[in-house]
Order: sequence, then structure tokens, then C-alpha cells
Amino acid sequence: MGVSERVEEVSIYAHRGMSGTFPENTMTAFQAALDAGVEGIELDVQMSKDGHLVIIHDEQINRTTNGKGYVKDLTLDELLGLDAGGWFSSNFIGEGLPSLQLVLEWLLEEGNDLTLNIELKNDIIAYEGMERKVLDLIDRYQLQDRVIISSFNAPSLKKVKAINPNISVGYLIAGVKQDAIKVARDIGADAIHCQPSFALSTYGRDAIEKGFPLRVYTVNERAVKEQLVETGVEVIMTDVPEQLK
Ligand code: G3P
Ligand code: CA
Repeated sequence: MGVSERVEEVSIYAHRGMSGTFPENTMTAFQAALDAGVEGIELDVQMSKDGHLVIIHDEQINRTTNGKGYVKDLTLDELLGLDAGGWFSSNFIGEGLPSLQLVLEWLLEEGNDLTLNIELKNDIIAYEGMERKVLDLIDRYQLQDRVIISSFNAPSLKKVKAINPNISVGYLIAGVKQDAIKVARDIGADAIHCQPSFALSTYGRDAIEKGFPLRVYTVNERAVKEQLVETGVEVIMTDVPEQLK
């Protein structure tokens, strides 16, 4: 199979939305990704003090909002009142943090056929009950076939599969994790989400051969993308989909 044919097979997911050009994990970044023609978006979920699912990468709000402190210590209302755009550029002042519910509703709008990769950010703070809350929300909107759940937290992914064996799960790893296939099997994962270093290693090739598609983050250079396409990865996650499409 030639490279050009392979290029058409790989799917592009916008990492934290179109986060190279817009404030990460905001509705503006997600809409821009849809407009750019990607196949999916990746986003990060943390949980508020009152048990709501909020889209933000860090455990603390300090880096990407105008507030300070931990997501887990603030209520949904407090989190939704923060500015999540001004840190990136004054053009985006007024941009808020989205809830997961808002993103799922947006996914159901006409013309939106994106796949949504929901990363559970529960490897640093173990949010009690997060898995069931996420799956219940997905159920409520009947979006089971359009979502992928990923996490660095293997026991959490096992819980996800125990609650709903049909939901697609990606085991998320950093670097060249030599026991990735073993852990992915133990979880019952459908894929491995990894960095280029793993995908381009013998471990990565072995994973593909053993039936684990690779979804690779975060790829912002065309040359790396082309190497990955040649290797046969399924998904490339990028901050700059407009440059890689
Ligand atoms: O899901 C892939 C990637 O987003 C994991 O790393 O730190 O960007 O959430 P991070
Ligand atoms: Ca992420």
C-alpha cells in the first residue's frame, strides 16, 4: 500500500480541540476543529466539588483560567464563571470552561459527526465515581458509538469496561512502556494511546500486530505524521490539524 493511500486512512483528532490556535479545551477550540474537517477531538475531564464533569486539562485552574486553586474544591457554578480564554490571548476573553454535558449536546448538533475521545484525568486525583458519571451522561445522550474513553489510570479503565463492556477504551501511556500490551489486555482495552516514541518502536509494531490500534499524541510535525502513517497507526492527535490535514 502506498503512502498516499495510507494518508487517507489515518484519522486526525484535534488535541484539546484546535489548541494551537485557540484556547485549549474550550467550545471555540472544538468548533474550530470541526470546521477544519477533523475526524475527532480529544479533551480532558476533571470533576468539580459538587460532582460535575468539567473540561479542563490540569487539576488546578491556575494555568488556563483567571482563578486559582483545584477543580475539586470549586462547584460547577464557580468553575463556569471563570475566564478560560484570556490566558491564551485577549481576543478570547469571555470564553468559559465547558461542562462535558455541553460538549455532548454540541456533538448531537446537525452536521457534527465527530468522534469524541474523553480522557479521564484521574491519574493524579482519583475522583470517586467519575467513571459511572461519565458513562451515565454518554448513555443519556445515546452517544456510545461516538466516544472513546482513555486514561493513564488502568484500574479506572477496567471499571469503565466493567460498567459497559461495549464502550471503546484506549489505554493511555507515556513513552516506551514495555508492558503496555499486557496491561491493555488486562483492561480489555480496544486500543493503545501513545506517543510517537512507542508507536515507532518494536513495541508499537508488536501492539498493532497483536490487534491494538495505535492512536498517537501529540503530533505537530508533518514529517513525524508521515512516519506514523507508514507504520499504520489509526489516529493522530494534533494541536494543529489545519497543518496536518
Ligand atoms: O490523550 C492524549 C494526551 O492528551 C495525553 O496527554 O497531558 O495532553 O492530556 P495530555
Ligand atoms: Ca489529554
